Amino acid sequence: MIKESKFESNVRNLHYGMVGGGEGSFIGDIHRKAAAFDGKCQLIAGCFSRDYNNTLRTGTNLGIAADRLYESFDEMAAKEAGRADGINFVSIVAPNHVHYSAAKAFLSNGINVVCDKPLVFRVDEAEELSELTERNKLLFCVTYTYSGYPMVKQARKLVKDGKIGDILMVVGEYPQDWLISTIENEGQKQAAWRTDPNQSGVSNCIGDLGSHIENTVAYITGLKIKSLCAKLDIIGEGRTLDTNGSIVIKYDNGSSGIYWASQVAIGNDNALKVRIYGTKGSLEWYQENPDYLKVTYLGQPLQIYHRGCRYIDSVASSRIPPGHPEGYYEAFANIYNRFASTLLKKNSGEIFNEDDFDFPNVKDGLEGVKFINSCVKSSKSGAVWVEL
Ligand SMILES: NC(=O)c1ccc[n+]([C@@H]2O[C@H](COP(=O)([O-])OP(=O)(O)OC[C@H]3O[C@@H](n4cnc5c(N)ncnc54)[C@H](O)[C@@H]3O)[C@@H](O)[C@H]2O)c1
Repeated sequence: MIKESKFESNVRNLHYGMVGGGEGSFIGDIHRKAAAFDGKCQLIAGCFSRDYNNTLRTGTNLGIAADRLYESFDEMAAKEAGRADGINFVSIVAPNHVHYSAAKAFLSNGINVVCDKPLVFRVDEAEELSELTERNKLLFCVTYTYSGYPMVKQARKLVKDGKIGDILMVVGEYPQDWLISTIENEGQKQAAWRTDPNQSGVSNCIGDLGSHIENTVAYITGLKIKSLCAKLDIIGEGRTLDTNGSIVIKYDNGSSGIYWASQVAIGNDNALKVRIYGTKGSLEWYQENPDYLKVTYLGQPLQIYHRGCRYIDSVASSRIPPGHPEGYYEAFANIYNRFASTLLKKNSGEIFNEDDFDFPNVKDGLEGVKFINSCVKSSKSGAVWVEL
C-alpha cells in the first residue's frame, strides 16, 4: 500500500549535548542519527571522549562550535546550565561506569537526560537518579531500544486488550557470539570495557543483553519480576564477568519465565526473541525480522501481523509502507521522537496524555538495575532464589 509521507514540523526546537560517542565508538552515532530522524533535536554541544583531542575532532566533524566542546561532562553540565541558550537535554552514550556521575551532574544542573542502558551499577544509585529526576521535575529516558519497534508496541497492545488472555509463561532469549574469542586482548574497544568490572559493573552479559530481555518483556506484558534464580557462566580465559546466563523467573501474577542471554553462542548475531504464552493465545517477536509478529489464537492457525498494515494499532509508529523494512534506526528514532515531543510539550506547558510517556524512563532503568544485581546475587550464592 502506498501512502502519503508523514509531515511533522522540521523546526529543530530542542538542543542537546552528548557525553561519549567520540570517533571510534559504536552507539553514539546511532543516537545522533535517531535523534535527527524527526527533525526535533539538534546536537550543539559535546564531551565525546575523555580524550579532548578526540572530542575536538568529533565535534568539528559534526559542525559543533568550539566553545561548546568540553573537556569533561561536569564542565559541560555547569557551563550549559549557565547559558541562556543552554542545551535542553543531554544524551549519555559512554560506557556504563560513566552513567551515574554524568546523569547526576546534568540532573543537578536542571538538564533533562537521555541515557543508554544499563542505567547504573547499583540500585541505590538508580534510586537516587529517580528521586533527583522527580525532585527537579525533569524528564529521563533510558534507551532500551526494543520498546521502540512498532511490532513490540503491537504485542503490548494485544496483551493489554486481553487478546491472549492471562499470561502463563514467557520465554526470552538474546544470544550473540561476538565474545566467543577473547578479542578484548586484541584491542577491541567495545569488548574491552564490557569485560572489565570497573567499566561494565557487576555483570557483562546480563547487563548488556539480559537487561534488554527484562525490559522488552516488562514493556509487552506489564509483568513485574517477583523473584528469580540465575546461573551465570564466565566463558573465556582470564575473564571475571559473565558471558552467558540462564535465568528462571517468577512474576507477580504467579506465572513463570525463562531468560537466556549469551555472547558466546556461535551462529547468533542479535537474536533477541520473546515468546509470550497466555490462556487464549500466544505471541512471538524476533528482533532480526522485526516487521512481523506471530500471533496464534486458541484453536486457530498461525497469523502473521505485519507492520504498517491498516489492522495494526501501532501503525502510528511506522514510518514507511509495509514491505520496505524498518529496523534499528527507526526504533531508536521512535524513542527519541516520543521523548522530544513530550519535552516540547513540557516546555510549552501543554497537558500530557498517557501516550506522551511511551518511552522507557528512569524507573524502568531502576528495574533493570535490580534485575541485573539480583541475577548476580543469585548466581554467586549457588543459583538460589532471590526476591527483587
Ligand atoms: N541501547 C542499545 O541497544 C545499546 C547498544 C550498544 C551499546 N549500548 C550502551 O551504550 C553505551 C556505550 O556503548 P558503546 O558500545 O557505544 O561504547 P564505545 O566504547 O563504542 O563508546 C563509548 C564512548 O564513550 C567515550 N567515553 C568514555 N568515557 C567518557 C567520559 N568520561 N566522558 C565522555 N566520553 C567518554 C569513549 O571515548 C567512546 O567514545 C553503553 O552503556 C552500552 O551498554 C546500548
